[in-house]
Amino acid sequence: MRLVTGAIAVVMINSVAIIFMGTSPGKADNDVVIQKRIELMRKDVLGNFKVIVAHVKDGKGSMTNVGNAAKGLETASGKLLSLFPKGTGRPNYSNQETRSLSKIWDDWATFEKANNAMASQAAAIFEHAINNNLDGIKKSFRIIGKEGCGSCHKYFRGPKAK
Ligand code: HEC
Repeated sequence: MRLVTGAIAVVMINSVAIIFMGTSPGKADNDVVIQKRIELMRKDVLGNFKVIVAHVKDGKGSMTNVGNAAKGLETASGKLLSLFPKGTGRPNYSNQETRSLSKIWDDWATFEKANNAMASQAAAIFEHAINNNLDGIKKSFRIIGKEGCGSCHKYFRGPKAK
């Protein structure tokens, strides 16, 4: 009888474990999404932004380079929001894992607005590059820095982990 009860208990524990694995989004999935958004920021956002900075500040690279970088930045904006599922910021995740603050989900509209500013000004830079309009590029570049990266980081990104 003991053996049977033991066996039933094991079966029950197993099914509970299976139900858990099947339904909860899980920490592992969130770890992947956090990694993905940091990579998007470093490669697609900063990487493309640097190309535009180099042109605006030092006259480096061609209008074609700037246009391609602007397209890349706009594409990155299109992917950004879905990489911030609710509950994947501090303090649910450690300071080492993420710099995202929970304020993002308390004030999603403002977060979205900063991303939209980056997307629309990147689209504008793409057009300016086609038209060889350096002044236009400079203007949109400044707006991205201020209303895109700058304001979003200021409100929604915490300090680097020590
Ligand atoms: C809509 C908000 C938003 C916009 C716009 C935005 N960022 Fe970020 N960025 C974040 C958040 C939040 C993090 C922290 C991600 C994490 O650690 O989970 C981050 C992280 C980064 C990182 C990763 C390294 C680090 O120190 O955290 C880099 C690099 C970066 N951003 C650069 C940029 C640049 C350059 C721009 C503008 C061209 C930009 N970002 C625009 C919100 C934004």
